[in-house]
Amino acid sequence: MSGNGTALVTGGSAGIGLAFATALAARGEDLVLVARNAANLEETARRLRATHDVDVETMTADLADRAAVQRVAERLADSARPVDTLINNAGFGMRSKLTGPDLSEQERAIEVMCRAVLVLGGAAGRAMRSRGHGAIVNLSSVAGFLAMGGYSAIKAWVMTYSESLAVELAGTGVTVTAACPGFVRTEFHQRAAIDMSRMPRLGWVDVDDVVATTLRDIGRRRVISIPSARFRAISALARHAPRGVIRRVSAAVLAARNQ
Ligand SMILES: NC(=O)c1ccc[n+]([C@@H]2O[C@H](COP(=O)([O-])OP(=O)(O)OC[C@H]3O[C@@H](n4cnc5c(N)ncnc54)[C@H](OP(=O)(O)O)[C@@H]3O)[C@@H](O)[C@H]2O)c1
Repeated sequence: MSGNGTALVTGGSAGIGLAFATALAARGEDLVLVARNAANLEETARRLRATHDVDVETMTADLADRAAVQRVAERLADSARPVDTLINNAGFGMRSKLTGPDLSEQERAIEVMCRAVLVLGGAAGRAMRSRGHGAIVNLSSVAGFLAMGGYSAIKAWVMTYSESLAVELAGTGVTVTAACPGFVRTEFHQRAAIDMSRMPRLGWVDVDDVVATTLRDIGRRRVISIPSARFRAISALARHAPRGVIRRVSAAVLAARNQ
C-alpha cells in the first residue's frame, strides 16, 4: 500500500475514468478499478502499477446488474480496506428515443448512471462519514442543463443528487462534487454510434482538463464543477435562460446530430 489513500473509480479502464485513475495514481493513491471488460481492466492495472508504483485492484462488474453493484458497495463499506475517494464515472451515451418501442437502453442507463451512483454514493458516504473524511465525485454533464433525451434527464438527476448528498454530508469532512464536462473525446460517442463530425473544435473539452478542474474543485469544496471557462459561461447561460429557449436549443442540437 502506498499510504496516500485509495480511490475507487467506476469505468476506470477508459476515457474520463482512466484519466482520473492515472491522475490519482500519479499522486500516489492506490486504486480500485471497476468495469465490465476484465482484460481491459487487467491491462490498465498492469500499466498503472508499472508507471506509478501503486496498488491497483480490479473488480469486474456490470453496474446494470444489481448483484454486481452490491459487491462494489460492500468493497466501499470494508473498513479494513478504506476507500478515500469514490469516482462514480461509469456510463454511456444513448440514441434511443423516449417514445421508442424498446426502452431497455433507457432502463439500463438509469441502472448504471442513476441507481448504481445512488447505491455506491450511499455506501461510500456512510463509510467516509464514520471516518470523518473522503471525497465523492459523480459524473454529470452539461447535457444535464439541456433537454436532450433520457441522457439529459439522467445527468440532471446526477447533478441534483450530488447537491442533495452534499447537503446531507455537510460538516462531516466528506466532500461531494458533480463534474459537468462538455464534449470530451473518449470512446463514449463511438460506442453509442453518435456522429460528432459536425461538432466544432470549440465544443470539445480536453480530458486532462476535466480531471484537473474536478480535483482542484474537490479541494475548494465546490459542489458543481464545470471544466473550462467556455463551458462555465455556456452553463451559466443555460441555467438562467428561460426553459423554452433551452428546449428549442436542445431540439436544434438533436436535429443537427441526427441528420
Ligand atoms: N465523453 C463525453 O463527451 C462526456 C461528457 C460529459 C459526461 N460524460 C460522462 O463521463 C462518464 C465517462 O464517459 P467516457 O466518455 O469516459 O466514456 P467511455 O470512454 O466510453 O468509457 C466508459 C467507461 O465506463 C465503463 N462502463 C460502461 N458501462 C459500464 C457498466 N454497465 N458497468 C461498469 N462499467 C461500465 C467502460 O468499461 P467497460 O466497457 O469495460 O465496462 C469504460 O471504462 C459517463 O458517465 C459519461 O456520461 C462523458
